[in-house]
Amino acid sequence: MILSAIIIIGFLFLVSNFVQCWITLKKSNLPSLPFLPLLGHTHYFIGPTHVFFEKLKDMVKIGSSFGLFLGPFFTPFLYDIDIVSHLIKSENHIQKKAGQYNFLRALGKRQIFMETGVPYKESKRVLLHAVNHANLREYFTSFNRIAQNLVDDLKIKVERDEFNMEEDLYLCIASVLLDTIVGLDESVMTRDEIIQFAKEFINSLTIIFDRGFKIWLYPNFLYKFSNSYKLCNQSVSYTRKMTGKLIIGRKKKIEASERNEEKNTGSSVFIDKYFESKKDDGSEFSIDDIIDDVHSLMGAGFESTVSSLRFVILMLAINQDIQEKAFEELKEKQKNNKGYFDIDDLNELTYLDRVIQETWRLYPPICFLGRKITKDIDLPNGGHLKEGINIWFFLAMLHRDPKYYPEPEIFNPDNFLPERVIERPPEAFMPFGFGSRKCFGNVFAKLIVKAILCHLLTNYEFHTTTTVQDFRLAFEFAMKEKIGVPVSIKSRAKI
Ligand code: HEM
Repeated sequence: MILSAIIIIGFLFLVSNFVQCWITLKKSNLPSLPFLPLLGHTHYFIGPTHVFFEKLKDMVKIGSSFGLFLGPFFTPFLYDIDIVSHLIKSENHIQKKAGQYNFLRALGKRQIFMETGVPYKESKRVLLHAVNHANLREYFTSFNRIAQNLVDDLKIKVERDEFNMEEDLYLCIASVLLDTIVGLDESVMTRDEIIQFAKEFINSLTIIFDRGFKIWLYPNFLYKFSNSYKLCNQSVSYTRKMTGKLIIGRKKKIEASERNEEKNTGSSVFIDKYFESKKDDGSEFSIDDIIDDVHSLMGAGFESTVSSLRFVILMLAINQDIQEKAFEELKEKQKNNKGYFDIDDLNELTYLDRVIQETWRLYPPICFLGRKITKDIDLPNGGHLKEGINIWFFLAMLHRDPKYYPEPEIFNPDNFLPERVIERPPEAFMPFGFGSRKCFGNVFAKLIVKAILCHLLTNYEFHTTTTVQDFRLAFEFAMKEKIGVPVSIKSRAKI
């Protein structure tokens, strides 16, 4: 008797959930694939992360945007320019980040990426100061020094078989970011520890991202019993311990130099601005606040910058004619001046710029931007989205709209000639996001990528036997392909 009642109630619950999902979907006027009650489309995403991209590729065939159910939660994936532009122009209807961003709190309580209110404003104020024009010039020395280390590390690979450059890129970008954000000190963090830091950091980001597709891990009390929680915690404890050591070391150095009335702590780094500033209530930023913000910055900037470099290098290795053109531009620039590139030279490398932008078009490092609908909204497709729904802008598809990119799958830097850019709405290309929550590391990130490419391309030719058809794209926070960065290199004659 009791069992039959449970079965009937369970059955009615499933039917009512299915009907509710169906109504929400119909109201949105978005296409979808068949889904199950309660599970929604979750079963489509079981398996490794590149399978996830394969599944999404199947789904994009059903329309110019689609609705998914992550469990019972309706989650539109949007890439129709009209719908996306409409939502972006109604930014007050999408004021919050999608709920899944909350999982980033595993890195630390304060998370700039999804924070609102006072903590966000305090951090943003300090960080906008850290990335202003004058400070960017100071960081440039660090970019060049670390890029030169990468060139030196690669010397032993010259004229050898193809190798995976992924780890070299991780070491290089972890070093650049740690050096400019916290100030690397070799007596506090060795090269092996930087490599370990990079591995642990990637591990935690992968687990956090993966949780977004495992709805049974959404409730914190269930997540805390999972192996993912344990592994993520182990990685975060390591990265927080190392960051803490660097921050305390930096603080002591500044205090010592102030006592000696010397002002020589070397180039300025991001966190110096925290020591110079106060929070809104007049108190100082605690070491924990700074560790949290450093983790936010590393979360936002680390994988995304590595992703940019890995795809630029692969695209240049695949498209030798484009690599030669980029090299010719560099050669010309270097001939005309003092033999090295400074920040102003970099700004004048317009072809290299187009190569980078075209790479971001096809392989946007952060491929999904999530928002919560904060006020009911009508869509230009005749649909309607209710308050509380999480939506995701799917950048890789948005950037492949044939209306704005005539051969969307072809790598063509001329898509970014100025006369082509002004023909498009800004929403047709937004690798750094949009509106008030646009990436504020964008100029900084572009400089890093360009500076490293200048060093690499003037020293080496890059080749690969891989083709775009071999790519197995995956998202583990940032976009990557599972094959890594398989390249062989040849030395260039000194310019
Ligand atoms: C090529 C590399 C990078 C790409 C493609 C990138 C992309 C993005 C995107 C798309 C967003 C918006 C996310 C959203 O709206 O949900 C974002 C936000 C952010 N990025 Fe970047 N980013 C890069 C590098 C960096 C770096 C190096 C830093 C700093 C060290 C950084 C700091 C931030 C911060 C703090 C936010 C949050 C801004 C806010 O919510 O107000 N990013 N980034």
